[in-house]
Amino acid sequence: MKFVTLNNGVKMPQLGFGVWQVENDEATTAVAKALEVGYTSIDTAMIYQNEEGVGKALKESSVPREELFITTKVWNSDHGYENTLRAFDESLERLGLEYVDLYLIHWPAPQYDEYVDTYKALEKLYHDGKVKAIGVCNFEIPHLERLLKECEVVPVLNQVECHPYLSQNELKEFCAKHDIYVEAWSPLEQGGEVLQDEAVMKIAKNHGKTPAQVVLRWHLQNNTIVIPKSVTPSRIEENFQVFDFELTSEEMNEIHKLNKDRRRGPHPNDMNVR
Ligand SMILES: NC(=O)c1ccc[n+]([C@@H]2O[C@H](COP(=O)([O-])OP(=O)(O)OC[C@H]3O[C@@H](n4cnc5c(N)ncnc54)[C@H](OP(=O)(O)O)[C@@H]3O)[C@@H](O)[C@H]2O)c1
Repeated sequence: MKFVTLNNGVKMPQLGFGVWQVENDEATTAVAKALEVGYTSIDTAMIYQNEEGVGKALKESSVPREELFITTKVWNSDHGYENTLRAFDESLERLGLEYVDLYLIHWPAPQYDEYVDTYKALEKLYHDGKVKAIGVCNFEIPHLERLLKECEVVPVLNQVECHPYLSQNELKEFCAKHDIYVEAWSPLEQGGEVLQDEAVMKIAKNHGKTPAQVVLRWHLQNNTIVIPKSVTPSRIEENFQVFDFELTSEEMNEIHKLNKDRRRGPHPNDMNVR
């Protein structure tokens, strides 16, 4: 496993395991499998409704707490200072943990304009030692600029949709300039067309690897953190086998050229669902 050092000195595995759209019971089985394979970073959220299932797998595992890196997120309906503090306590209880490693704002939900107060609650949790690091998801450059201006703690990362068809170059540049990691959600484009892209398949064949492994490797070599999701045991293993080969700069460029600025999810400005 490769670790990255976040801007507050905390170390985080560059490859983690996501559990969006995984039922609570299934989350226990999938996370148990992931831990067995060697993943130690797990990405959940209140809105996934599987924090309990994730917590059960963590409790039953023999991996020591200090070796785990657990991320959860505050949902749009819990924005605001007091609401966020309450929502955090509820997440912690469902997870059965005493702290989380990373707490994120799930979406900026700009229509409600409460993400600054929400972030201030994250800062309090950070200062109180209930979270080791804080950050955001789906923040566009103007949202980040506002946090940098009005808050004290620089987010350690921005978790955004990112894959070869949505390479997020401008946002990546902005984040790099401010020492904010980019973490890719839907890194495999939700198992979509990118895994059948001719260029990706050709590179995969050259290395005796699968298209998914090539796409994950592309993210890693871009210095992006990745959290692929799978409930399929063989794929959970496959997605972990990405540290034993390297893409050439020509191969990296070929994949860079695939960008279509094409999203699977909504644009952050439009995601105000509560
Ligand atoms: N912050 C946010 O707003 C946000 C939004 C979306 C996601 N996320 C996080 O990011 C994580 C990953 O994103 P995601 O779940 O949307 O998409 P993803 O990881 O890009 O893709 C998951 C899909 O790809 C399939 N898959 C996994 N490994 C594969 C492989 N080796 N070969 C072929 N297909 C494969 C999975 O199928 P099976 O499961 O059937 O194997 C699943 O259908 C989420 O689980 C969640 O933790 C965050």
